[in-house]
Amino acid sequence: MLEKWTPQSWRDLPIRQVPGYADTSALTQVEDTLHRYPPLVFAGEARRLKDRLADVAAGKAFLLQGGDCAESFAEFHPNNIRDTFKVLLQMAVVLTFGAACPVVKLGRLAGQFAKPRSSDSETQNGVTLPSYRGDIINGLEFEATAREPDPQRMVQAYSQSAATLNLLRAFAQGGYADLHRVHAWNQDFVADSPQGERYRALADRLTETLDFMAACGLNSETTPQIRETEFYTSHEALFLAYEEALTRIDSTTGDWYDCSAHLVWLGDRTKQLDGAHVEFLRGIKNPIGMKCGPTTEPDDVLRLIDKLNPKNEPGRLTLITRMGADKVAAKLPPLIRTVRRAGHEVVWCIDPMHGNTISSSTGYKTRIFDRILDELHGAFAIHLAEGSYAGGVHIELTGQNVTECVGGAQEISEASLADRYHTHCDPRLNASQALELAFEVAEALKRERQGRSAGSGVGSASRLAAVS
Ligand code: PEP
Ligand code: CO
Repeated sequence: MLEKWTPQSWRDLPIRQVPGYADTSALTQVEDTLHRYPPLVFAGEARRLKDRLADVAAGKAFLLQGGDCAESFAEFHPNNIRDTFKVLLQMAVVLTFGAACPVVKLGRLAGQFAKPRSSDSETQNGVTLPSYRGDIINGLEFEATAREPDPQRMVQAYSQSAATLNLLRAFAQGGYADLHRVHAWNQDFVADSPQGERYRALADRLTETLDFMAACGLNSETTPQIRETEFYTSHEALFLAYEEALTRIDSTTGDWYDCSAHLVWLGDRTKQLDGAHVEFLRGIKNPIGMKCGPTTEPDDVLRLIDKLNPKNEPGRLTLITRMGADKVAAKLPPLIRTVRRAGHEVVWCIDPMHGNTISSSTGYKTRIFDRILDELHGAFAIHLAEGSYAGGVHIELTGQNVTECVGGAQEISEASLADRYHTHCDPRLNASQALELAFEVAEALKRERQGRSAGSGVGSASRLAAVS
């Protein structure tokens, strides 16, 4: 029998990735303050996202999750929020066309501030300081006072999240997300990008479709679905003191929700079965994610699923696989088979970023665009062969024209990484690389649909068999 869950029950269990605060009473004071602040999202919205993800699990929708690796106080600017939102919308339109189904849009933003680190400390030129753990905890500069964890940063992260979410809601509902406008941006990309020609056919078909819909009277004035969009937020549930402070009882159901975001996920480094992070996540009713890396044992995943989704509710759990282009062929099939044999309903989402991080010859942490595509294509092919539905992608990106990942149509080289390398943590795709990736995924999805309908014996029929 599992012990009773409370928003604090994680505190009695072993925990990894925690900052060492010098003044714990200052930390407690800030937690008390945040407890009294309004929730950032409403539980009903989290439930709606769970329903949307249940559609993804059933193969009737596709998930696009993307945004910063780490949001930062320094990059906080309305134009940055706008540009990340814009590129996500552009990608979503392209994917909608490729997948021929609704795309659930889930930002990695408005709360993605805490970062797991491989080491507690960092040494430079003989000086050792605590590692940077994200702007919600300490500062990036390699300097003793900056690296000291400061609880006041939690309040700043909260207010930045609130302001970001406010702007995102305004954009999503206020006309900025109009399909015609998003399509016009994509046409600009096709016209201006070096590889635009490759994507022209898809963009032209979308123009025809929109013209046809307009001729039938479906336009921005008559049809809210063209004028508006649903947009959700997510981040890693790493810094549990913050997550707990925003966990509230939903007055309509009496259930606990983590109201810091619609979806929160369990990182690859904090998913110990009897650890604090798993304990916290098992009790909240939000839809949740779980990263699965190459060292994740399929049997451990089963035990985690039993704990995190004991009633096997579709939409509750998204498995975000991040194996690496060179390992996906060996690691993904056994995981899919094990989960399927146990009859679990999950969303399978591909994160082609975190297994493909390397150090460039110039010393920058980077990712090669083609390796990212290799993992994506590899994972799609594996899901098709296994008869499971590759239901989503998870991408680190920004709407800014940064130079953090190598390759893509702009042919960013290792030597040019220094030009505009702004990330506070992992390297992100820039707007052009992100859109190029969306066109690639759209083509893969189209092939996958054709593969399924060609009666290859995989797909929905075997999915149904697997859960019956
Ligand atoms: C991340 O998503 O930024 C991250 C740290 O991922 P993972 O837990 O998969 O390493
Ligand atoms: Co990252």
